[in-house]
Amino acid sequence: MPLVNTKEMFKKAYEGGYAIGAFNVNNMEIIQGITEAGKELGAPMILQVSAGARKYANHTYLKKLVEAAVEETGLPIALHLDHGDSFELCKSCIDGGFTSVMIDGSHLDYEDNIALTKKVVEYAHARGVTVEGELGQLAGIEDDVNVSAEDASFTDPDQVQDFVTRTGVDSLAIAIGTSHGAYKFKPGQNPQLRFDILEEVSKRLPGFPIVLHGASSVVPEFVEMVNTYGGKMPDAIGIPEDMLRKAATMAVCKINIDSDLRLAMTGVVRKHLAENPDHFDPRQYLGDGRAAIKGMVEHKIKNVLGCNGKA
Ligand code: G3H
Ligand code: 13P
Ligand code: ZN
Repeated sequence: MPLVNTKEMFKKAYEGGYAIGAFNVNNMEIIQGITEAGKELGAPMILQVSAGARKYANHTYLKKLVEAAVEETGLPIALHLDHGDSFELCKSCIDGGFTSVMIDGSHLDYEDNIALTKKVVEYAHARGVTVEGELGQLAGIEDDVNVSAEDASFTDPDQVQDFVTRTGVDSLAIAIGTSHGAYKFKPGQNPQLRFDILEEVSKRLPGFPIVLHGASSVVPEFVEMVNTYGGKMPDAIGIPEDMLRKAATMAVCKINIDSDLRLAMTGVVRKHLAENPDHFDPRQYLGDGRAAIKGMVEHKIKNVLGCNGKA
């Protein structure tokens, strides 16, 4: 099976009341860990590449590695551009074989966001590629851009129907209280998601797939592991998994997870090196890192996404 776009997987996810995991990939071990978990649990998957990941690992390497994962697993896998910030970047990924792109115009004025998103949709749809747009701004860090909690803004449900109709996007990322990175909430804060906004959005867009970015839970076990073995992560707090599970049963069809993978891999690699100071073969510690990614993705598929057996 070749790489697929997100059309069919989102339709099934919406109807089935589950979500697809969109996992960020940067190297071979991460791709292998994620897709080994998907294979074992029969889960459809989205592997997403940020501009930073593309710069780090190179477009061709990442694409070929993901194609290798498709061959090895036989799973429906979409290769997706995460947070595309220009038409040129989206075009380059579409021309280079990605099956899905995000054009993130959420920082632009409403009309400019529509114009840019529409331009990407026209180019993408003519080539069978699906497009994710974004309305509303998340707090947190992505590609070195830091949006403070004060500058973040929830999605306005009154805009979504107009945005989707005029742009033709296939899915929409919304801001309901998630945020990027490991420091989503301050100690003492009570993590909350605005389910009222999600409900209003889905009323206005019946059957339409919604996306949640910034959806890592910052699993405490791995923060503790990082800190036990020499790390210094102060008060890292994420989104409770039961809230994400609830969102997955609603209109949310794609849940983005990166920070939880980073934490799991880094925690386990730190532990490995601390416990084996004589090791210097990268396969030893990266092998452990890959296994940690696999374990984390299995956990997410079963406890958050509910997409096991849906491939
Ligand atoms: O939303 C951002 C993702 O976590 C990707 O992060 O831009 O550092 O690759 P990155
Ligand atoms: P996290 O930082 O919560 O993992 O979010 C990742 C993300 O939204 C990628 O686009
Ligand atoms: Zn994101």
